[in-house]
Amino acid sequence: MPQPNFIDKLNAALPTAAREALDVLILAAGTRSLALYAVGGCVRDLLLKRPTLDLDLTLEGDAPALARAVAGGLADVRCTVHPAFGTATLKGTGFRIDVASARAESYERPGALPAVRPGPLRDDLFRRDFTANAIAIALSSDLTGGLIDPFHGEADLEAGLLRALHEASFRDDATRILRGARYEARLGFRFEPQTLRWLKRDVRYLEAISGRRLRDELLRVLREPQPERILLRLHGLGALTVLHPSLSFDERRASAFARLRELRDEPPATACLALLAWELTPPEAAALAGRLSLTRREAEAVRAAPDAQALLPALSADVPPSRVVELLSPLPPPAVWALAATAEGPPADRALHYLRRWRYLKPALDGHALVALGAPPGPRLGEVLRRLKAAKLDGEVRTRRDEERLARAILSGTEAVKATPSRSS
Ligand code: CTP
Repeated sequence: MPQPNFIDKLNAALPTAAREALDVLILAAGTRSLALYAVGGCVRDLLLKRPTLDLDLTLEGDAPALARAVAGGLADVRCTVHPAFGTATLKGTGFRIDVASARAESYERPGALPAVRPGPLRDDLFRRDFTANAIAIALSSDLTGGLIDPFHGEADLEAGLLRALHEASFRDDATRILRGARYEARLGFRFEPQTLRWLKRDVRYLEAISGRRLRDELLRVLREPQPERILLRLHGLGALTVLHPSLSFDERRASAFARLRELRDEPPATACLALLAWELTPPEAAALAGRLSLTRREAEAVRAAPDAQALLPALSADVPPSRVVELLSPLPPPAVWALAATAEGPPADRALHYLRRWRYLKPALDGHALVALGAPPGPRLGEVLRRLKAAKLDGEVRTRRDEERLARAILSGTEAVKATPSRSS
């Protein structure tokens, strides 16, 4: 029986522009007698009949040189090379192709970036996280069009198993624990039993991973359609407490993640991070933000989570909108989204009203209009504007005329400037 040609299958899964770029790369590798392979996630997804987004290629040779040689001939394709890493990226409209020189890796210590040296394809596949990601399609070599699967990844794909390639895999690179949990949820796979034992044994090596790498993998988890399933799994594996001893995740938090998605499509990672940190104390939240080397915005959201949680009792009382704005406006919006997803009943409604309407509400009158009404320029102008905004939020004024009447009353001293939000949202 003729073997299926996997290049044809790969081409069929790619957008036209990516196919053209791939053709040119294959031709260039062939004329130089260099062996080129598709590897990793794109091969896995192709075999699983899932959409392939990015293409990873491995060249037994100088990948940056090959990428440079073809880039000039490809219209609308940008080529970036990283000679130090032996990699290059071709980016066109709607596609991205990464080309890397085949390499072997060794880890000097757990969690360190590996020392790499050029190596044959087999070594390049062996250095990977799971057998499912260690399958190649020969694009230009003696075996063109065939599947190269020295570690039986295809059988594991069929069985829905995540199998590490060797027992030091998680110790070498513990981000594979997060990656594995992500693949379990995304692909509906499970860890092969021995792999699971290695993983549990080595979960502590997450401590050795840099904050930046942890952050990046965690964000990839949060971008999955149902990150809460992955976070529950990571909690069960003991991985979250390695990130911070007080970090945990339970079904209640999982429901809040699902609720957040009901409240807004594609919730921002900052809101998810705030939800993750929900039960932490302020020092714990700050420590987590530091450990994960979060960006400024992400860290702000995480650090604000305990503050947002502390507002729940105040938001449960029968408070007017202006008071809600006063309470919530000092918080970054992602923390308020986390609050809205966690709370129930009136506090949740109030947080949502704040997020969707109240924080944008402005009086019809601005500073110029107040000066025209006879207000003296200076700090008092701000006070009057805040009072007008509060009155508008609480329904005391509706029209511009109402506002003018109130402004005149305040300015003439017949209406006191009440305590109102000190900071506009
Ligand atoms: N890889 C690995 N160990 C890591 C990171 C990556 O072995 N810690 C390997 C895997 O073979 C993976 C490939 O590098 O398939 C490319 O990495 P990445 O782009 O992160 O994974 P994909 O599988 O392409 O993408 P995704 O996980 O989003 O499906």
